[in-house]
Amino acid sequence: MTAQPILLLLPIISICIFNFGMLILIRVLFPTILTHPWKAPDKRERKRDKETTVVFAGSFNPPHWGHLVMIRYLAERYGSVICCIGFNPSKQYDVTAQQRADILKGMVSNISLNNVRVDVVSGYIWRHARAQNAKLFFRGIRTWAEDGADELKLLIQNTYGPLLLGRVWPINTVFLEGDPRYRGASSTLVRGLCVRIKRNEDQDGAMEELKELVPESVLDQIVEVYGT
Ligand SMILES: *[C@@H]1O[C@H](CO)[C@@H](O)[C@H](O)[C@H]1NC(C)=O
Repeated sequence: MTAQPILLLLPIISICIFNFGMLILIRVLFPTILTHPWKAPDKRERKRDKETTVVFAGSFNPPHWGHLVMIRYLAERYGSVICCIGFNPSKQYDVTAQQRADILKGMVSNISLNNVRVDVVSGYIWRHARAQNAKLFFRGIRTWAEDGADELKLLIQNTYGPLLLGRVWPINTVFLEGDPRYRGASSTLVRGLCVRIKRNEDQDGAMEELKELVPESVLDQIVEVYGT
């Protein structure tokens, strides 16, 4: 007698689990990509967005104009933006996450983005995002074609990690495609220029190029930290 209702529930429970699985799979197979020009929120979204906290995760090694214009867009759109620099305590870094955070803070405060914070995070960034009550997890990319393959691992981690490790529903990851004006900017390029400046290899030329890639407010700091 008592076993019967449970037996009836079983197919319903399996269907629910299956649907949740599909929903999650769809997130991974069809990632949310915000292409440039980044859309402005409509009237209804605007109010909600202003009350929303979002996370922008990256290694920012070092940060450059490509990152800063993304952060500016997020800061104008959302109530508060937390830039997260992840690090692994057991790993050695040429430039520590804290040093990168200091540069990023300098960039952000120089253009008076008062609703942006920079956090150095050890462990899963999705955990930190949840603890801060963030509703969206942003990642900056060049284009999905160029960076999608590398981003997939993080997307899977962000999607399944909360479910399996945290037993919580994952927040959505949004990939923000770069502004084409800064498509040439990359952290690798910036680091290369810093080394050239320090070694005095066409120092003036390298400095001119670097000025196009990073804001003046942090130029000297970046050369100092990365030009070794
Ligand atoms: C921003 O950086 C420029 C160049 O380094 C500096 O002259 C200016 O005072 C800074 N502004 C603020 C608000 O920090």
